[in-house]
Amino acid sequence: MATILAIESSCDETSASICKDGEILSNIIATQAVHHKYGGVVPELASRAHQQNIIPVVEDAVSTAKINKKDIQAVAFTRGPGLLGSLLVGTSFAKGFALANNLPLIEVNHMHAHILAHFIDEPKPEFPFLCLTVSGGHTQIVLVRDYFDMEIVGETNDDAAGEAFDKTAKILGLPYPGGPLVDKLAREGNASAFSFPEPQIPGLNFSFSGLKTSILYFVRDKKKSDPDFLTNNMADICASVQHRIVTILLKKVKLAAKQYNVSHVAIAGGVSANSGLRQHLQDVAEQENWKVYIPAFQYCTDNAAMIAIAGYYKYLRGDFAGQDISPLARMNF
Ligand code: KG4
Ligand code: ZN
Repeated sequence: MATILAIESSCDETSASICKDGEILSNIIATQAVHHKYGGVVPELASRAHQQNIIPVVEDAVSTAKINKKDIQAVAFTRGPGLLGSLLVGTSFAKGFALANNLPLIEVNHMHAHILAHFIDEPKPEFPFLCLTVSGGHTQIVLVRDYFDMEIVGETNDDAAGEAFDKTAKILGLPYPGGPLVDKLAREGNASAFSFPEPQIPGLNFSFSGLKTSILYFVRDKKKSDPDFLTNNMADICASVQHRIVTILLKKVKLAAKQYNVSHVAIAGGVSANSGLRQHLQDVAEQENWKVYIPAFQYCTDNAAMIAIAGYYKYLRGDFAGQDISPLARMNF
């Protein structure tokens, strides 16, 4: 029996969640709008916004869960990977709260938590399964053998899939964060209107930097002969780029499934909210006879519920951290 308070502050979302015996009672997320006008996350501003948000977000998580602070039995927090200044705010809060209330601390790896978010709702995945974790900072194919027995079998050599979406949006003149906007526009467009190159990377690794460059040159050249090209073709460009990103991702997942003889496949991370990826995964699953796990939208992008569920499984194992723990911008998987 455990009631856990979880804190997530690795990037630009301040989030707190209460989880009771593996059930999420609240998941409060404060998104930082301050970065929009800079076209990306400004680390110093993110850290300051976390400081302002963390107490009200925790208060909200506790009251939404209809519990008392004294009911909390452990504090889980994101130790890394992420922006160090942002992680410091969540880590310091968690340590202070645990010390003041004499509670155990649980450190959580953000990338494990994205995967373990699948254990919040039913149906829970069966081990072993493959998880394609696609976010703003990471693109990984992970072989998940057990809750904390995970192996990265493929990853990006350069940009992450979320970065590919965000950089495309920037080239197209769309505001930050561009991924969800590209997704929205793509729904109105024709995915075969334009053809973008597929990188030839051997094995299970990815590369997205060439795609970004090809989009940049494509737009530049088209605009030379037609200044209105972007405005008139926005939806088709978004649909075509999205199609390319999704096909690059799923081709490698298919390869990994064959190589590791696994037929249970999950997606996780911010880009798993993408409608093209979700749809295409269902189609491939039908052809390949896979059982697929697609997270609820609120558990795709950064949230503390996933930290809470990861914390819960660590709590069951008695896997606690000491007060001397510090956050890690880069963290071993
Ligand atoms: O997991 P996440 O919230 O934060 C990181 O840990 O990075 O992922 C954020 C990334 C951003 O690049 C954002 O543009 C992308 O996920 N994203 C999407 C969509 N929703 C979020 N990309 C494509 N389509 C979406 N619907
Ligand atoms: Zn994330």
